[in-house]
Amino acid sequence: MEITPQIWAVGGGKGGVGKSTVSTLLAFWLARMGNKTILMDVDLGGANIHTFMGIKSPPRTLNDFIAKRYDSLEDISIETEVENLRIICGACDILTLANPHVAQKTKIIQNLSKLNAKYVVLDLGAGTSFNVLDFFLVVHRKIIVLTPQPISIQNAYAFVRNAVFRRLSRLSSQQPYLQALIRTAMDTNNELRVKTIRDLYQVIEDARGKNVMNDLEHEIGKIQPQVITNMITNPKDKNAGRVIQIVSEKYLMIHPTNLGGVVYDKRLHNVITEMIPLTTLVKSSDAFASVYDLVMKLI
Ligand SMILES: Nc1ncnc2c1ncn2[C@@H]1O[C@H](COP(=O)(O)OP(=O)(O)O)[C@@H](O)[C@H]1O
Ligand SMILES: [Mg+2]
Repeated sequence: MEITPQIWAVGGGKGGVGKSTVSTLLAFWLARMGNKTILMDVDLGGANIHTFMGIKSPPRTLNDFIAKRYDSLEDISIETEVENLRIICGACDILTLANPHVAQKTKIIQNLSKLNAKYVVLDLGAGTSFNVLDFFLVVHRKIIVLTPQPISIQNAYAFVRNAVFRRLSRLSSQQPYLQALIRTAMDTNNELRVKTIRDLYQVIEDARGKNVMNDLEHEIGKIQPQVITNMITNPKDKNAGRVIQIVSEKYLMIHPTNLGGVVYDKRLHNVITEMIPLTTLVKSSDAFASVYDLVMKLI
């Protein structure tokens, strides 16, 4: 029987905060709970999910799909040691894919919902390029990973803000005047003195009327990121997610959920260097227990 998968994406912040680790653990638990799950590496610049699963050189990658050697994403998926869990590997070493053409990105996005799984978890990779944001904006669950460091909180907020502006820009793509306004507002030193999304909505209402403004506000309100704070070493660290919540509500008028934290566990570091599957740590690492709790909140 065909099922349409529920798609989750993990993004936000620079490299090193644990996006790939958290994606892998989320997918692991979804599979362990008996759901057919696919973990997909969309980190087009630095694919590494396969190493997390103990696979040295993947037999098939996203690049084979882009290059039309395979017709569907389903065909390039690879079984793992974990029951119910398959992975789709990113295209490692292929620099051209770090900046795919719009057509390639669209092709991947359109194919996602054809995957034969209950859940698809996307590891989006670092940065706030349109490629990353466009994946983030189309999925059902928009997960942001950050660490308690101030710089990481800033990066995560920048990611959310860019996602909001990207959505606004696409929503107004047929309206040049609105587009120009939004582009101006993105610059924090703009001459319109638009500092927040609230200001922007006001300018749009003045120029285009209340209905136009309400429609935009309604669509943007649907962006509801879910924030996970990784590498927690003390209980106060969990407040990082709360900060994103507060500033997003105040300046972007959206309402992220603060999901909770994943504890720091130094054994996770060794896994990468020893080339053993991350998932073998399930019984010994508290990070797994943390992510189990998060998955229970998410499903
Ligand atoms: N909760 C954690 N505890 C300890 N180390 C972690 C944790 N999460 C991630 N790491 C380690 O941090 C490094 C970066 O993690 P990774 O998932 O690759 O980040 P990203 O995908 O955001 O670049 C890796 O060496 C990983 O093992
Ligand atoms: Mg990564």
